[in-house]
Amino acid sequence: EKELTFAMIKPDGVSGNYTTAIKKIISEFGFGITNETTVQLDEETVKDFYTEHSSRSFFPGLVRYMTSGPVLMMVLEKANAVADWRALIGPTDAQTAKVTHPHSIRAMCGLDLQRNCVHGSDSPQSALREIAFFFEKSSLGFLPKHD
Ligand code: CMP
Repeated sequence: EKELTFAMIKPDGVSGNYTTAIKKIISEFGFGITNETTVQLDEETVKDFYTEHSSRSFFPGLVRYMTSGPVLMMVLEKANAVADWRALIGPTDAQTAKVTHPHSIRAMCGLDLQRNCVHGSDSPQSALREIAFFFEKSSLGFLPKHD
């Protein structure tokens, strides 16, 4: 009954030094970190990862933001990992999160609607796509693809 999800600490979270605090929350809430890797994403990779948003007006800004510095990508494992990680990170807009979900991760470290410091897969299907996008399965577990 264990489930995998994909989590990412975005450039504002890494540069703001929130990695340790976020990992502490991850462990306190019972997630295992199956694999992790820090990478500087390039434009092509970000466009491909966020392809479902490619027609949105915020897309160019999203690509600039996500390529502005290194990100930390993690595969998280536990029962109900997808929904539980989404609940922990809080609403997309970090400013909203500060009001409605003050104990969420985005309330702690996010800045606004775009710079919301963390990512979490929105469904088990997305989780499998996103994990496969960034990691390949091997006898050793998941190995990073994009670094
Ligand atoms: P996330 O939900 O992890 O993945 C899509 C990202 O696009 C989202 O986080 C934000 O960083 C960004 N985003 C979503 N909606 C908007 C918006 N309306 N304006 C600016 N950025 C957005």
